[in-house]
Amino acid sequence: MLILGFLGSPRIKGTCARLLQSALDGAASCGAEVKRFDLITCNIQYCRGCGTCFLNNPELTIGKCPLKDDMHAILEQYVRADGYVFASPVYDVFVTALMKTFLERKIMLTYRPKDEHGTIPGPRVPAEFKKKATLIVTGNCGDELEEVMGDPCFEAWQAHLPIEQVDTVGQLYVGGVERLADSTLAEKCKKAFQNGRLLAGAIEAAVHEKWNSRYRSA
Ligand SMILES: Cc1cc2nc3c(=O)[nH]c(=O)nc-3n(C[C@H](O)[C@H](O)[C@H](O)COP(=O)(O)O)c2cc1C
Repeated sequence: MLILGFLGSPRIKGTCARLLQSALDGAASCGAEVKRFDLITCNIQYCRGCGTCFLNNPELTIGKCPLKDDMHAILEQYVRADGYVFASPVYDVFVTALMKTFLERKIMLTYRPKDEHGTIPGPRVPAEFKKKATLIVTGNCGDELEEVMGDPCFEAWQAHLPIEQVDTVGQLYVGGVERLADSTLAEKCKKAFQNGRLLAGAIEAAVHEKWNSRYRSA
């Protein structure tokens, strides 16, 4: 089982990074192979909106993008993975521009025939089983403001991921990060670790179900 983590914070040693790492450690403790992408260190350009990737080559797993950057190589690993951890600080009541830019470029994973105007592009490769993701958001505003600060970020992923047939398994908002006591951070990291374990467990169950249903229909 392969689980990838994506960090939307430019601070690769910040709170969001620590929580993401805890979630990946949790998944690894269940036997998952894990890999972390710090988006600030990747060359990911803005989508230019040309439509080349999603309007052409339905036979490809990843649409062809004219931009020459790291995105295609990242997506090659993305399509092989079974699950994901997405982590972003709240910046102006949304995920960071780093995370949003990455999400926009994942349109390369979708396809829409040219004459089907006004429809949502679909996944290029039908899911063999529903992949899973867990979500992490950090903000300066306290935990009591999760609805205001965290929810728009969670929704950014939750609106995006169903197109790829990815379900969400757990979400964690950690507020008040500027003044977080070490003991509180340790507690939140424990929660992230637990969410990583839940993610790995949910993937294992989904894969098991896939094989069971194949066996039953054989
Ligand atoms: C440009 C900018 C915008 C921010 N906007 C918000 C915000 O809307 N709500 C909030 O609670 N915190 C906001 N913050 C605080 C960040 O969410 C906080 O610094 C971050 O979660 C810390 O995580 P890190 O240690 O990974 O950088 C903002 C910070 C910056 C730099």
